[in-house]
Amino acid sequence: MSERLEDIAIAMTAGGKGLLAADESTSTIKKRFDTIHLESTEENRRDYREMLFTTKEAMEKYISGVILFDETIRQKASDGRMLTDIIRQAGSIPGIKVDEGAKPLAGFPDETITEGLDGLRGRLKEYYELGARFAKWRGVIAIDSNKFPTWGAVRQNAQALARYAALCQEAQIVPIVEPEILMDGKPGNHSIDRCYEVTEHVLRTVFDELFSARVKLEGMVLKPNMVIDGKNARKASVEEVAEKTVRVLKSTVPATVPGIAFLSGGQSDEEATAHLSAINAIGNLPWKVTFSYGRALQAAAIAAWGGKKQNVAAGQKAFAHRAKMNYLAALGKWTKKDEQAA
Ligand code: 13P
Repeated sequence: MSERLEDIAIAMTAGGKGLLAADESTSTIKKRFDTIHLESTEENRRDYREMLFTTKEAMEKYISGVILFDETIRQKASDGRMLTDIIRQAGSIPGIKVDEGAKPLAGFPDETITEGLDGLRGRLKEYYELGARFAKWRGVIAIDSNKFPTWGAVRQNAQALARYAALCQEAQIVPIVEPEILMDGKPGNHSIDRCYEVTEHVLRTVFDELFSARVKLEGMVLKPNMVIDGKNARKASVEEVAEKTVRVLKSTVPATVPGIAFLSGGQSDEEATAHLSAINAIGNLPWKVTFSYGRALQAAAIAAWGGKKQNVAAGQKAFAHRAKMNYLAALGKWTKKDEQAA
């Protein structure tokens, strides 16, 4: 495969394929395992991810790349193969989460700054040697009806994203630039128009900082939230979410960016799929538009698996189904009938 950043970015987002975000930190995967009453041991985490990455149909046909956590990029499957080799053998690209999480931002109560820039150049070099060809950094932006986000928090997160992206490109790694405006934060009752306004402001600021940091837009992937009302105020229709999301992206994201891959952010599995399909159905978009889902790709698979060996086939079937639904959505071709067909 080509090693040019622009070719990798296209391979990550083209042809209906999308990304599997399997980069839950140790504390986040514990929360997911708690839902099936499974202890979060290194072996259980390995077994779970091995189940996903060995789902042949999904990995070969629908998943362009997998975002891994530090532990997973070094881990071996039960048969001794590196998990990264299993991903590559399926024709998918290994990637790595390199941020160290959102921490309280000094001087800004209730807002966060994502840490992880110190020593990042060295870590990227090692991750490249371990096989990563793209990376992820998530900036978290609080939102409410009037007070949040503050300008200071938006700018500092945008600057961190830009510094990270420049370091990635220096290391021949495609940066996924993820400024997430929370849909499921507190209080979670903001309107869709408030989300539009904040998303526009955040994306403008992020691209301003990327430009100042000399990041090559051809060699990156944007991972944004959709324009959607807060989790405790969800009422916008699928069409309204799609229309407003496309409008804000067209007014802020340069056409030189090859691909956009959405996060799911707490949307239900089917909502995340329906929105993505409606966005692509609008058509005439200057970038490839696909998914980079964590929860919306994995929730059904975790539940079907339940941590039991005898359920691996059921877990894989659930994962393959969600991956296929989102593949259809990335082509703008998903319908409710496709869900029922399964
Ligand atoms: P969700 O799709 O669960 O929001 O996770 C995607 C992700 O990688 C967030 O950083």
